[in-house]
Amino acid sequence: MTDIVILAAGKGTRMRSRLPKVLHALAGRPLLQHVIDTVTPYVDTSIKVVVGHGADQVRQRISGTIEWVEQERQLGTGHAVLQALPLLGESGKTLVLFGDVPLVQPSTVERMLQLASANDLVLLTVDLADPTGYGRIVRDGEGRIRAIVEHKDASPEELEITEINTGIMILDNEDMRRWLPSVGNDNAQGEFYLPDVVAMAVGDGRKVVACQPEFEWEVQGVNSRVQLAALERDYQRHVARQLMDGGVTLADPARFDCRGTLRSGQDVFIDVNCVFNGSVELGDNVSIGAHCVITDARIADGAVIKPHSVLEDCSVGANAEVGPFARLRPGTELAAGGRIGNFVETKKARIGEGSKINHLTYIGDAEIGRNVNVGAGTITCNYDGVNKHKTVLEDGSFIGSNTSLVAPVTVGRNATVGAGSTVTQDVPGDNLAVARGKQRNVPDWKRPVRKTDKG
Ligand code: UD1
Ligand code: CA
Repeated sequence: MTDIVILAAGKGTRMRSRLPKVLHALAGRPLLQHVIDTVTPYVDTSIKVVVGHGADQVRQRISGTIEWVEQERQLGTGHAVLQALPLLGESGKTLVLFGDVPLVQPSTVERMLQLASANDLVLLTVDLADPTGYGRIVRDGEGRIRAIVEHKDASPEELEITEINTGIMILDNEDMRRWLPSVGNDNAQGEFYLPDVVAMAVGDGRKVVACQPEFEWEVQGVNSRVQLAALERDYQRHVARQLMDGGVTLADPARFDCRGTLRSGQDVFIDVNCVFNGSVELGDNVSIGAHCVITDARIADGAVIKPHSVLEDCSVGANAEVGPFARLRPGTELAAGGRIGNFVETKKARIGEGSKINHLTYIGDAEIGRNVNVGAGTITCNYDGVNKHKTVLEDGSFIGSNTSLVAPVTVGRNATVGAGSTVTQDVPGDNLAVARGKQRNVPDWKRPVRKTDKG
């Protein structure tokens, strides 16, 4: 049985923020949420999260099957785990993580759990070129782990050690009950150090082992905004790499941002500076132009999204074309071969196969059939100031430029609306509707002349 404890009570002074550190976002999600989402599959009951600074805010913003543990004063990592101890199983093991080390990967957690089945204490360690500030892993002549010594308490020889404690470890619950209450704070920082249990384990003849993460960024902590930005880039590079390995061409993996999950078919092309939020699915041969922001969208095979388009909560059919400068708002469903051009905004609109809305148009609360042509400057007047009303454009209809469609209104199959019309009544199929002032020509028109001072 595995318990999980995440330490998140620290203040995060170096962030210089009113927001608790663990609520700062990486790839669109709070740091602590990353840890919770990663370990949720491995917990039997609930995840214990130790909070202190900004506890109320943290509780409000973080979701999951969580039992919150209050640590009123931050007296050290050992003290923090001690607060959670009464909630942990009588026997079994506990995985301890930090809320400000967001990117530990499932594969690493799994390897640690595997090691924990045959050992008493499993440490996640890493070799760092610059180990400054970290707790050092002290090993004996045979390479066996003896203790962890914090940077501030280390001797000059110990400071030479490059293998460091990431803080992530798996401990035995019965062992913790014996060891934790006797961890002292007689050290350089006057804190109760969780890593002190390592020397106790060695003293008790317990089996202590270490394993290493696949990537260094998995165990990188966030203490400042500079570190947050650096870790964000590490993460984005990793996602970019996985996409490229899966058959996606990225114009520049350094200018790519995924803040959610992006599933992608083969031979997809993504140009520079695109941002993907939430859950986005791209089919085969999709092309995304530069500077697009795409949120919770499904884009089918062969569709082309041209530069500077913003898509949210919508779907785009096979071989459809969108943009440049298009805005697809929630509820837009563009069918196969459809076309939404520049400076067009759509909302709650089903647009049938092969239909075209090419320029400067607003389509909201609309049902558009197949092969409909919506001319430039068309507006669905869907809102009467109180309620929203629906516009229906049936198959094959043709809406002339600069038409106002005052909803609720239906334009029938193959009907035509003359340019500049304000359509307030339904148009029967195959009809022509013209609803505009009739043109009057005044012959020999003299333009007014400018008045002079004299008269
Ligand atoms: C800790 C480790 C160090 C390790 C490093 C890795 C200890 C004593 N040292 O040092 O060996 O190399 O992490 O980053 O554990 N926290 C609480 N309550 C407390 C104190 C801390 O919840 O009373 C939380 C913090 O919010 C943070 C985490 O524990 O998420 C680590 O605490 P921090 O003070 O940053 O430890 P370090 O000094 O970095
Ligand atoms: Ca730290």
